[in-house]
Amino acid sequence: MSGTACQKKFAGPGQSAGLNREVGASCRFVLPEFGGNDHRYFGLPLLFSSFAHACPPSRPTLTSRHDRNQGSPMSHSLPCPQASTAPPQGLCSLAVATVGGCARIPGDKSISHRALMLGALAVGETEIEGLLEGDDVRHTAAAMSALGAHVSPGVDGGLWRVRGVGIGGLVEPSQVLDMGNSGTAARLLIGVVASHPITSFFTGDASLNRRPMARVTAPLERMGASFVGRAGGRLPLAVIGTHHPVPIEYRLPVASAQVKSAILLAGLNAPGITTVIETHPTRDHSELMLRHFGATVTTESLANGALAVSVTGQPELVGRRVRVPSDPSSAAFPAVAALLHPGSELTLTAVGMNPRRTGLYQTLQEMGADLRFENPRTEAGEPVADLVIRGSALRGVDVPPERAPSMIDEYPILAIAAACAQGTTRMFGLAELRVKESDRLAMVADGLTACGVSVETGPESLFVHGTGRPPRGGAAIATAMDHRIAMSFLVLGTVSAEPVAIDDGRFIETSFPGFAALMNSLGTKIEVIGC
Ligand code: S3P
Repeated sequence: MSGTACQKKFAGPGQSAGLNREVGASCRFVLPEFGGNDHRYFGLPLLFSSFAHACPPSRPTLTSRHDRNQGSPMSHSLPCPQASTAPPQGLCSLAVATVGGCARIPGDKSISHRALMLGALAVGETEIEGLLEGDDVRHTAAAMSALGAHVSPGVDGGLWRVRGVGIGGLVEPSQVLDMGNSGTAARLLIGVVASHPITSFFTGDASLNRRPMARVTAPLERMGASFVGRAGGRLPLAVIGTHHPVPIEYRLPVASAQVKSAILLAGLNAPGITTVIETHPTRDHSELMLRHFGATVTTESLANGALAVSVTGQPELVGRRVRVPSDPSSAAFPAVAALLHPGSELTLTAVGMNPRRTGLYQTLQEMGADLRFENPRTEAGEPVADLVIRGSALRGVDVPPERAPSMIDEYPILAIAAACAQGTTRMFGLAELRVKESDRLAMVADGLTACGVSVETGPESLFVHGTGRPPRGGAAIATAMDHRIAMSFLVLGTVSAEPVAIDDGRFIETSFPGFAALMNSLGTKIEVIGC
């Protein structure tokens, strides 16, 4: 099927119906251990519960930059998503013969966050095509609105528009900024506000509030900002932005695009050059998009493969048009589902192919996957291609630690592929997996073990012993508020001998709205439990 015909058939994520309406309700899988009202992950009290949350933002009357920062009359609002306040929704996935067809996967999450943030910091209007309308990105949109930008959501999956306030022009939000489940939203935005002369308060859901923030607050303190947070700098966190941001040079202690981006974004409002040195190159969407909006960003190669990335402070960013490619991290789920079913053929159109994001696809090819990249092209500064995947017999491989930054979010779904491969897949350099939306190393190992797969874990490694046959399955998987754990085990259920259930599918909405409906349109059987 051609890309055009495909795009007509799958007109985009915005048109996927909600899970309850689209997904069959015939699953008879019973999950006594989860019950219908298990709120283990949702009962943690928020320290900021006495604050109203920041979804009623403001649109100030623009005067001088100084006045603008002082606070905001309320005249414009963008709501935060409320997914995690709905009751948990168990899902189960049953084995099917093939997974195929053609689909357009929702927009890239990393690029969507950045488009909203830079749009808010630019002068003039930014138009965003293909923005991911997932919960994580909606939290960023609500926050940018609370900080004074005018954000107009797209109608029926159409263009989003952002009218920015200019660098230095953000206003002090009158409510706590709720970042939901999103580490990227929280860390990047903490960087943005740290170099503005405003005080803001950040919180998130129970998962986000467990994640380490000192990795961003430590360098931002050197730039002049102050923070009051919980142990380890965790959220809820107060950010006291500085009136006089200082440009710094900072060597990243962990390979993290979020930390790199937080510092570069803070550097936008600092006079002079802010430099981040990364030993292992991480995704460069911030750099590409900063250039797209008119900033000067340079990259210099250093010894041993390290990179020095520098931004020149106080540029005038100009509103631009941004076209968001499909998210290669989301495309990984249907791609692996198709690979695991002999006779399947699946086309995924306009998938982002930034080389700092494609480690999974390289690894799958090394495992023997029939995976092709057709019609390669560049859209708004980002490489994209149509991905054609055919069912393939996979074999175990070693995945070196230096590949981790380019496939950091893909290890859970790689582990599912490895469980179906012949032989052992050994993954190294996984320390960062322990501080994602959940401890993904432990969650993957526990889930695979429950499904009858033999695994070994170390502090930073995971070995999966595949037999070349579909695993037993037949387990109920705890997802710990982690979208990628949820989607990975639903993919396993499409091939395992017995169905695989997950305790809660709500968090899939953070990154892949309409996941179950789209997967089912390609042939899977993902069903709501208990209907
Ligand atoms: C992201 C960076 C990665 C990734 C996350 C998105 C980004 O996190 O896991 O899903 O958009 O910059 P780290 O920077 O913590 O590795």
